[in-house]
This record gives sequence, C-alpha cells and structure tokens, in this order.
Amino acid sequence: MNSWVNSAEILGSDLPLELSGTGNRRALLMDALREAVRSGRLAPGTRLPPYRSLAADLGLARNTVADAYAELVAEGWLAARQGSGTRVAERAAPVTPVHRPRTPERVARPVHDLVQGQPDPSVFPRTAWLASARRALAAAPDDAFGPGDPHGRPELRRALSGYLARVRGVRAAPERIVLCSGAAHGLRLLAEVVGGPWAAEEYGLPFHRELLASHGVGTRPLGVDADGARVDGLTRHDRAVLLTPAHQFPTGGPLHPERRAAVVDWARATGGLVVEDDYDGEFRYDRQPVGAVQGLDPEHVVLLGSVSKSLSPALRIGWMVLPQRLVAPVVAAKGEREPFSSATEQLTLADFIESGAYDRQVRRMRQRHRRRRDQLVAALHARAPHVRVTGIAAGLHAVLELPPGTERSAVRAAAWQGLAVEGLGDYLHPGAEHRTVAGAPCVPHRDGLVVGYATPAESAYPEALDALCRSLPPVSPPAPPQPPAAP
Ligand SMILES: Cc1ncc(COP(=O)(O)O)c(C=O)c1O
Repeated sequence: MNSWVNSAEILGSDLPLELSGTGNRRALLMDALREAVRSGRLAPGTRLPPYRSLAADLGLARNTVADAYAELVAEGWLAARQGSGTRVAERAAPVTPVHRPRTPERVARPVHDLVQGQPDPSVFPRTAWLASARRALAAAPDDAFGPGDPHGRPELRRALSGYLARVRGVRAAPERIVLCSGAAHGLRLLAEVVGGPWAAEEYGLPFHRELLASHGVGTRPLGVDADGARVDGLTRHDRAVLLTPAHQFPTGGPLHPERRAAVVDWARATGGLVVEDDYDGEFRYDRQPVGAVQGLDPEHVVLLGSVSKSLSPALRIGWMVLPQRLVAPVVAAKGEREPFSSATEQLTLADFIESGAYDRQVRRMRQRHRRRRDQLVAALHARAPHVRVTGIAAGLHAVLELPPGTERSAVRAAAWQGLAVEGLGDYLHPGAEHRTVAGAPCVPHRDGLVVGYATPAESAYPEALDALCRSLPPVSPPAPPQPPAAP
C-alpha cells in the first residue's frame, strides 16, 4: 500500500519527512512541511503530529518543531486552534494565471476578496432601482423603443447635466454630454477620434492602457508623486493625457491645484486634450469633494464618468462631457444607431437621479466605505503598525506601503491565506521602469498592496482584514551586515 494513502488518519502520530541539506534544522523542517503541503501530500485540514512525537521521530528538539509550526501558522500554511492541535490551513491553492503574468500569486477561488474594483454587489439598491424602472417605463415616450440615438437619451443627459454641475463642479450643457457604456467605451471612442500618442500616469489601470493600444494609441508614462501626475513632463507631441485628478489611481492623492492649472495651460498652448477619468470622485471622506478639472476649461478637458463605482459595473452606463468641437465626431464614431447601452436603462438612471435616489445611495455608500476604511486603518494600527496606509481620503481602495522588496512575497502570502489582493507593481506602466530622471535611470516602483475595501460583504470583511494582516511582512527585514570598519 502507498504509505501516503489515508495519511489524514495516520498523521496523528506519524509523519515521515526527509530533512535534506545542512544548516538550520527549523528552516529545513519548514521547507519539508511547505513542500508536503504544496505537493498535496498533506491535504487542507490534515492534523499534524504533536510536537513531541514529530521531534522524536526526526531527532529534533521539541522547541524546534514548535517554532517551525508557529512560523508556518504565521505564514498561513498551517492553522492552530485551541484544543485541536495544528492543522494544514484550509485555503485555496494559488494558481498561475493565464492573462495576468504580473500576478502569478492570483488565487483560484479566493475565500477573501480585497482586489480593488467594484462595490459590494449585495448592496445594489434593488428596490429603488425597480421603482425608477417602473416610473421610467411608464413615462417613456414611444421613441424610446426605437433604434436609439447614439448621443444618448435626452432625459439622462439633462439629469446628469444638473447632477455633475452640483456635485463635481462640471460645466456640462446636456448637448455636451454623450452617453456611453462606461469609461472604457469612452476611451475607445476618444482613441478613434483624437488619435495618439497619449501620455498616461505611470500608475494606472493596465486595462485602459491596453485598450488604448489596441485602438492604435500608445501611451507614454508620466511620473506620479505625492501631488499626483507630473504634468510638467507633458510635451507638444502628446495628443492627450489620461489623468485621474480627484484620486490618483491607484496611489490615491488628488492632483495638486497648481498642476491642475498647469495641465490646462499645457492643453491651451498645444491643442492637447486632457482626459479626466472621474471614476470615484463622489467618494471623498476627509473634506469637500475635489471638483473636476473639467470645470476649469470645458473646451480642453473631457470628463469621463460612469456608475461602475457608485452603483454597479454591470449596468454599463457612462458619460463623456466633451468640448464642443468633439461632440459631433464622437457621436459619429459611435455609429448611426445606439448599439451600446439600453435606452430603458438610461431612462431608469435619469429617474434615479431626478428622484434623489442616486444621492441617497451615494451618501449611504460613502458612509459605508468610510467605515470600512476606518476598520482597515484600525486593524493595521493594531496588528501591523509599521505598515503605512495611504490614499485614504477618498475612493474605494487604499495603498499599504511595504518595505522595499517585500511586495511579491506579501501577495504570495496573501494567496496562501486565500486572500486575493494586488500589488502596486501590477498597475505600473511597463515603460515606467525605463524612465530616466535628470539623465539617470530611475525605477519608480514602490512596494505596496492595493487594498479594495468595498467589495466584501459586511460579514466577510473582518475575516478578509484578518487574512490581510497575516499576509504582511514582519516589522522590518534584518539589517544588512555592515562592512568592517576601515583600519
Ligand atoms: C481607474 C478606473 N477608471 C474607470 C473605471 C470605470 O470603468 P467603466 O466605467 O468602464 O466600468 C474603473 C473601474 O471601475 C477604474 O478603476
């Protein structure tokens, strides 16, 4: 009989392990145990032998086994529970992704989800949305059921015009608004109408860069620091610049007021276009919302917005507030009919905004996100005070700054905890690694985790935070050995 068959039954007292190599016995034991878990020899939930019996079998001190178990518990490989000994942790195994080579630690079926991106789907305001849908359908004119105008339903453009002016300081006559299926669709249309090349923040959504590239628009990385994008790096060769001024994505700061003015000056001087991705502008916690750059100069700025963060990315409703000269070309680029977003959904959203339901939902979500953010900050303060959390004044995510060189191991440790979370490096423009500053090569990457705190259901959030804290590197890596003092 294969000696590993029924291992879960016999491991209460017996775990043959070969400690290969020389050196620290605890480290060798940890390697052997990790390998046994990784290979599947020790299945999740399997109880490990008591310290004393394993120590006797392997000729080790009892404390060596105890220390090895404790470290593997801290790393998430094992779980210790009072009264039931130490077991192999119940967690999803990391898998190598097909589409995301930068995150080989991506979790196949995460138990916990702190990947930034979407609001908790369980809080979609179904009742209020249904009420708006009923009213909108009952009141819809017959032409709403025709082939559709690519400009978008006038009811929604009017509703957005008032809402965006009131909440975001956007100067948007309804004729300047073209409805689309989200920011991604807006970018696609702008790529076609404006052409390239563009500049883009060196930290940004890879999907957006890839989407622009697939429509023939290359992007050049623009440095990002604590005051947002380094717009002084723009040149007259850039046709457009893609920015996230309210809450730099994903590092988290607002664009400095002087840079807001400077980017508008650049656009005026060169005829370039500022593309303002206002993806989470309504979710500001510590002060009044930072208004949209578009309000400074509507003839040189396009504002992109959508309900993906405020309601749901499933609705696929977004808007572009365009300079006058771009309205007709963008509508033409959409085609003669509206093939992208449903007129009845547009009418529903118009009612949702006009009836005040949208404001109520945003306020409710703002409170909830702020509470989540505070829980995250409190958990880190208590359990990982050495980890700085930044970008928390707004949005649905925060950045945890990590010691240099620890990002990938933290993402890997998270995967072993069944926690899906992404590293800051996943958002770095590939060209940024080759950027030079004052003629010297400069690698701008900062180690960090991008933690989306909005997605988990209320009941799942504390455990997700717990898994996150367990994934973080310890206080500080050991100091490198000092060279001997010169004689
Ligand atoms: C930076 C950024 N911009 C915009 C969006 C919204 O995209 P869309 O409107 O295409 O869903 C997202 C994702 O939700 C995002 O992360």
